[in-house]
Amino acid sequence: MGRITYVNGSYLPEDEAKISIFDRGFLMADSVYEVTMVLDGKLCDFPGHMARLARSLDALGIPAPLDDAALKAMHRTLISRNALVEGGIYLQVTRGAHDRDFLWPAGLAPSVVAFTQARDLVNMPSAARGIAVVTAPDIRWGRRDIKTTQLLGAALAKDIARQAGADDAWFVEEGFITEGSSNNAWIITANGTLVTRHLSTHILHGITRAALMRYAAEVQMKVEERPFTIHEAQAAQEAFITSAGSLLCPVVSVDGVAIGTGRPGPISQKLRALYIEESRKAAR
Ligand code: PDD
Repeated sequence: MGRITYVNGSYLPEDEAKISIFDRGFLMADSVYEVTMVLDGKLCDFPGHMARLARSLDALGIPAPLDDAALKAMHRTLISRNALVEGGIYLQVTRGAHDRDFLWPAGLAPSVVAFTQARDLVNMPSAARGIAVVTAPDIRWGRRDIKTTQLLGAALAKDIARQAGADDAWFVEEGFITEGSSNNAWIITANGTLVTRHLSTHILHGITRAALMRYAAEVQMKVEERPFTIHEAQAAQEAFITSAGSLLCPVVSVDGVAIGTGRPGPISQKLRALYIEESRKAAR
């Protein structure tokens, strides 16, 4: 039996879950999304995801389709109806369906869809092994802080990585790493400082990034928010990515150059364990 999904107020088997061909999410990527991690059958950082969703909707002038309590109830229903223990919940809100035109009419009702994806997050093999990344030009639009479904830049960068025999791509703009194709990029300098790019319109404001910054501060680790170059990453002691899909995953090479020993380093492994432990405690 397939999953039970959510489509505009109804819980439906996945093969009955459909939206209109006139939906602007489909025609124009006029839509935003969130992926919330689920650990032990509980939601991680749900308020953070809802705050970012509200910010994304607001930036595009899409009215909020449901309040946070209704969205939380819907997420919990999807967890229980699909017996989801570990993985994520994908939520997408589009501006709505209307005959194709660039401009939309006033009062269009947003479309809302959501579904679960069961995945091993705590015991994912890539985290034990570490991932190889290659760099790719950041060809995305100028508002990467809005979590839209315009993901072709990310998909093509991941294809560049696949063709190069790597696991993922890091975007580069004007000589500096912006972020990973679907994650935030971090390095650990020789003196143990964590470095990740500062928040701006150039990157997505990762919820995992924000949580890790809080946890790192609690264990007195120094974090610097600033851009770094490919060369600085290659010379770093360690490197890693953060996202709801990977939690915190060590990066062991950048463009074929090994980082540190070329294996997941002790600081990244400690931070991953810390992140998982704190996320489990905070999950609701
Ligand atoms: N990706 N940067 C980009 C470009 C992303 O797509 C993501 C998340 C992140 C990390 O954000 P967070 O920590 O809130 O997951 C950073 C999601 C998981 C995805 O598209 O599947």
